[in-house]
Amino acid sequence: MAFILLSRCVAVLVFLLPSQSLLPVVKAAGLNLYTDKEALLSFKSQVTIDPLNTLSSWNSSSSPCNWTRVSCSQVHQRVIGLDLSGLRLTGSVSPHIGNLSFLRSLHLQENQFAGVIPDQIGSLSRLSVLNMSLNSITGPIPLNLTKCLNLQILDLMQNKISGAIPEELSSLKSLEILNLGKNNLSGTIPPSFANISTLLTLDLATNNIGGLIPADFGRLKNLKHLDLSINNLTGTVPLSLYNISSLVFLAVASNQLRGEIPDDVGDRLPNLLNFNFCINKFTGSIPRSLHNLTNIQSIRMAHNLLRGYVPSGLGNLPELQMYNIGYNLIKSSGDEGLNFLTSLVNSSHLNFLAIDGNLLEGPIPESIGNLSSSLRSLYLGGNRIHGRIPASIRHLRSLALLNISYNYVSGEIPPEIGELTNLQELHLAANKMSGRIPNSLGKLQKLNVIDLSANELVGSVPTTFVNFQQLVSIDLSSNRLNGSIPKEVFSQASLSKTLNLSSNQLTGPLPQEIKGLENVAAVDFSHNHLSGSIPDTIGSWKSLEKLFMDDNMFSGAIPATLGDVKGLEILDLSSNQISGTIPNNLGKLQALHLVNLSFNDLEGLLPQEGAFTNLSRIHVEGNSKLCVDLTCWNNQHGKKTSTAIYIVIASIAAVAVCSVIAVLLCVRKRKGKVMPRENSIKLQHPTITYRELCKATGSFDTGNLIGKGKRGADQQSITSTGGLRGSIGYIPPAFSGGLSIIKWVQSDFPANIEQVVDPELLLSIQDFQPDARFTSPEKQRECLISVLGVGLSCTADSPDQRADMRDSLQKLKTARDTLLKPPLDHKPDLDLEAGIGESSIKP
Ligand SMILES: *[C@@H]1O[C@H](CO)[C@@H](O)[C@H](O)[C@H]1NC(C)=O
Ligand SMILES: *[C@@H]1O[C@H](CO)[C@@H](O)[C@H](O)[C@H]1NC(C)=O
Ligand SMILES: *[C@@H]1O[C@H](CO)[C@@H](O)[C@H](O)[C@H]1NC(C)=O
Ligand SMILES: *[C@@H]1O[C@H](CO)[C@@H](O)[C@H](O)[C@H]1NC(C)=O
Ligand SMILES: *[C@@H]1O[C@H](CO)[C@@H](O)[C@H](O)[C@H]1NC(C)=O
Ligand SMILES: *[C@@H]1O[C@H](CO)[C@@H](O)[C@H](O)[C@H]1NC(C)=O
Ligand SMILES: *[C@@H]1O[C@H](CO)[C@@H](O)[C@H](O)[C@H]1NC(C)=O
Ligand SMILES: *[C@@H]1O[C@H](CO)[C@@H](O)[C@H](O)[C@H]1NC(C)=O
Ligand SMILES: *[C@@H]1O[C@H](CO)[C@@H](O)[C@H](O)[C@H]1NC(C)=O
Ligand SMILES: *[C@@H]1O[C@H](CO)[C@@H](O)[C@H](O)[C@H]1NC(C)=O
Ligand SMILES: *[C@@H]1O[C@H](CO)[C@@H](O)[C@H](O)[C@H]1NC(C)=O
Ligand SMILES: *[C@@H]1O[C@H](CO)[C@@H](O)[C@H](O)[C@H]1NC(C)=O
Repeated sequence: MAFILLSRCVAVLVFLLPSQSLLPVVKAAGLNLYTDKEALLSFKSQVTIDPLNTLSSWNSSSSPCNWTRVSCSQVHQRVIGLDLSGLRLTGSVSPHIGNLSFLRSLHLQENQFAGVIPDQIGSLSRLSVLNMSLNSITGPIPLNLTKCLNLQILDLMQNKISGAIPEELSSLKSLEILNLGKNNLSGTIPPSFANISTLLTLDLATNNIGGLIPADFGRLKNLKHLDLSINNLTGTVPLSLYNISSLVFLAVASNQLRGEIPDDVGDRLPNLLNFNFCINKFTGSIPRSLHNLTNIQSIRMAHNLLRGYVPSGLGNLPELQMYNIGYNLIKSSGDEGLNFLTSLVNSSHLNFLAIDGNLLEGPIPESIGNLSSSLRSLYLGGNRIHGRIPASIRHLRSLALLNISYNYVSGEIPPEIGELTNLQELHLAANKMSGRIPNSLGKLQKLNVIDLSANELVGSVPTTFVNFQQLVSIDLSSNRLNGSIPKEVFSQASLSKTLNLSSNQLTGPLPQEIKGLENVAAVDFSHNHLSGSIPDTIGSWKSLEKLFMDDNMFSGAIPATLGDVKGLEILDLSSNQISGTIPNNLGKLQALHLVNLSFNDLEGLLPQEGAFTNLSRIHVEGNSKLCVDLTCWNNQHGKKTSTAIYIVIASIAAVAVCSVIAVLLCVRKRKGKVMPRENSIKLQHPTITYRELCKATGSFDTGNLIGKGKRGADQQSITSTGGLRGSIGYIPPAFSGGLSIIKWVQSDFPANIEQVVDPELLLSIQDFQPDARFTSPEKQRECLISVLGVGLSCTADSPDQRADMRDSLQKLKTARDTLLKPPLDHKPDLDLEAGIGESSIKP
């Protein structure tokens, strides 16, 4: 007994852990260092891949106390610690681990362990730290875990654990950190958790937990960190929760919570640094007291139903890094409506500011330039902002994203924007901006996306647009731009998404140089006055999927090289003066599903294969010399046909004439209805369903995504996404240690998702999905997380860990549906006002 006591003292000294009952020691009497060794060897036998060969020293000829990553108590010579974190081990956790009766800490995090947590873990009565986070553990949380009465840290974050959370976990009376986030847990939050008075951290985020937040949680008087985000919680936030004055981090984002946020939340939670109530159904107004918390770092309430004005007090938040009240019903009026922004000049660490999608009215204050020089993202879109963009904006040198789209901003684009050399996204669409596009914008070498569409811009496309190194998407549509398209525009090899110059007054021919755009996926030149023939170098646009050149004055023949564009899906050359025959090789394009060649001067016979055999996908009306089928061709060439065929032809022709007339009427009608702000890709191709476009474009508009959805350090995310040009080429620093790309993605997933995604994913394809402007960034982030999650589960090293295709597809569909869910009930009027008017075309 004395010996046991002595060893306990040593253990206590070494580990500073609370003392424990003698009972387990007595029970474990049959176990010794020899059984520890056997247990570890059997553990090793279930590790199937050990890429770093770490376990090579684990052999029977030496004592386990000499093995790497194994620690023993000095006096007792029993295994007390096992730290196998980050070794990229694959395999399952052997049940024999339960024989390590002296084990106090078990670190298996950051490996690829699969299978279930063995029941035998319940035998580890001394266990105080269990970290299995970042593995692929499946199955439920074993009830036997509740026998590990000394557990202080239980971290199972980011596995595939399913089932309900056992309420019996509340018997772990020493538990301080309980992290079950990023699993597949369902059921409800056990109210019994309110009894774990020692809890400091409770993280249940990113699961599928429903029901109410237990009202008893107010009893968790030591709780500092509570994260219940991204679940399916309903009801209100119980008032008692606002009684936990120790709370530093409180996040309930992305649930179905409702009710008002108490106005005195800041007074009752004086230690709060992080407050995240985004994406719920909260009503009422922005609690004034939050602005009383002088140390607060992050205030987020985006995507709720909050009304009223922005309360005063923003001038007293020197530590504030993120302020996000986007997508609510916050209003302001008068010429000083946005002056609350001026108060934020005292927040010198501010790097993220979003007030978009509200009812805010007023001009942008001159003091905007006095905001923090570390500001990275500024979202002002979808409000009622008028007046000019102040030139003082030039001082926001760190700005990577500026979005003022969908407002009533007038005046010229200040040339000073060209001084924001860190800018990656510039969105000024759908305003009333006039004048020329400043040449200085060409200085924005890091620009990924530029959207100046639906304004009143005049003059020509600046030739300085040659300087962009990383441009992925450019939209200048629906303006009054004239002159010819400078050949510099076509030298952007980085342009991989969209070139949209439609609905302008552009003239002249396309230069042969267009071949430079070899990576572009969608090009829209429609509704201009472009002329000349279509250069045959167009065949070098190997990535092209959609080409709109309708309503111009193009002449000459359709270049046969278009047949080289293997991925072409939509081709619209209608309403031009194109002549000659349709190249037969267009019929060989497998992806082609919509061709509009109507109202040209085409002749000859339609290709008799591919898309051209399905007349619902082909529009060729208004080409008097064109034959749709062989019979017509034969007729034209004077060959005899039998009467029977004649009758058939006659009826087909009658139907065809009727349809043409119907289509004509239809087209007329539609043209009459076209609103000035719409452009070709967006609306005037009624034959393409919105659903198809969404499907084709993967629903990834993330014009608003960059940096959003992150807690804190948004800076790096923008920097690194900027550096990641495509998935090839750029090698992130973390790779140098031989880390695989999958592991690298896993390591940052999903907390830092912005750091791992290809910027092209992050870039705007809102041209195809106009209402995406009102899909909140938080939602988009969620969608990204699901999709990357599926990607990861499909790339597991061993085939049996890989996700089933059917499951994956289902998950992708769910992600898409979540993203494309119709906006909240209060949004339609806002959408209409913002000039979108698309709310009727929802998938
Ligand atoms: C662990 O202990 C159980 C029973 O105490 C025994 O049956 C088993 O063989 C042990 N495992 C090893 C690897 O020694
Ligand atoms: C066992 O591991 C030790 C290192 O711990 C090594 O020196 C020894 O050669 C190994 N023995 C066998 C049989 O692999
Ligand atoms: C551990 O290794 C050291 C030498 O590396 C040796 O002296 C010692 O006896 C070994 N201990 C056990 C328990 O095997
Ligand atoms: C798990 O707990 C049950 C009862 O609580 C017990 O019967 C069983 O032996 C335990 N299993 C292990 C492996 O400890
Ligand atoms: C568990 O391990 C992960 C990964 O190393 C680490 O980030 C986390 O902080 C650990 N959990 C606790 C509670 O220390
Ligand atoms: C998540 O759990 C549900 C049941 O709660 C199950 O149907 C689904 O397959 C699980 N998903 C994964 C990825 O394990
Ligand atoms: C909390 O513990 C008390 C006794 O300590 C018990 O009466 C009560 O039922 C427990 N509450 C829950 C929700 O488990
Ligand atoms: C969320 O909860 C509601 C009921 O509260 C339920 O109808 C719905 O199916 C749940 N959603 C998911 C994804 O579990
Ligand atoms: C919050 O705490 C106060 C004082 O400690 C108490 O009077 C009140 O009932 C508590 N509110 C809730 C909802 O638990
Ligand atoms: C802010 O704090 C002051 C005192 O520090 C207090 O008088 C005031 O009522 C608080 N404001 C709100 C809205 O809670
Ligand atoms: C900034 O802080 C200073 C001192 O703390 C204060 O006097 C000033 O009013 C604040 N500015 C704004 C715009 O609130
Ligand atoms: C902004 O800063 C300039 C100096 O850089 C100063 O003159 C001006 O008063 C400031 N404006 C506001 C509104 O703080």
